[in-house]
Amino acid sequence: MDDIPLAPVTPAVRKNQPGPLPPGRVPPTAHHAVAPGFQEPPRRGFFMQALAVLLGGLVGLVPLAAGLAVYLDPLRRIRGKAEPVPVTTLDALPDASKHDALVGLYKIMANRQDAWNLYPNEPVGAVYLVVPKGTKEIKALNATCPHLGCFVDVQQGSDGYSFKCPCHTSAFTGDGSRIMPCVSPRNMDEMKCTVTKVDGRLDVSVVFENFQPGLEEKKPKT
Ligand code: FES
Repeated sequence: MDDIPLAPVTPAVRKNQPGPLPPGRVPPTAHHAVAPGFQEPPRRGFFMQALAVLLGGLVGLVPLAAGLAVYLDPLRRIRGKAEPVPVTTLDALPDASKHDALVGLYKIMANRQDAWNLYPNEPVGAVYLVVPKGTKEIKALNATCPHLGCFVDVQQGSDGYSFKCPCHTSAFTGDGSRIMPCVSPRNMDEMKCTVTKVDGRLDVSVVFENFQPGLEEKKPKT
């Protein structure tokens, strides 16, 4: 078979071939091998772009923060003052003039409100109305135990009544004081009780509040 003749190297081709470097010269690296006329982007342009992105983000955050503030506004509002809730009338009380009397247990119906909703006329708790020994005053005691919030029962004895919690045996005297030893950190929670004349009848009202269990001090539940 005949050999295929190779094309002769022309002087034009030979002109583009790198020739041997003179002694002491270093061959160009890839970094240096850039097209003639090419310019790297200036650093200032990069910072301007970053600044624009940052400002754009901040501008977008303003309406987001405003929306969030409106949504969470009810949580920021100051808690309203508890209002007296009528629970019964003085005439309906069983012999409230007698000393050391347990007048009764009353369910409290009131408007309940959380941060966003109003629930009208719902059961929010219960009170014992009592007339402790040596007084003629009606007292309102929250029927939940200050230890962990169980419902406190009444115990009627020969010398009067007392209260006992069925959960961890905390016991209280007729005026709500602890009978030691007692795991409840405080006495039964007393609330303000008022008698007011309304349309010719005497209403017994309670400024009802639920308090946080497990604390020594009375701290209203939010
Ligand atoms: S909840 Fe009443 S004693 Fe614990």
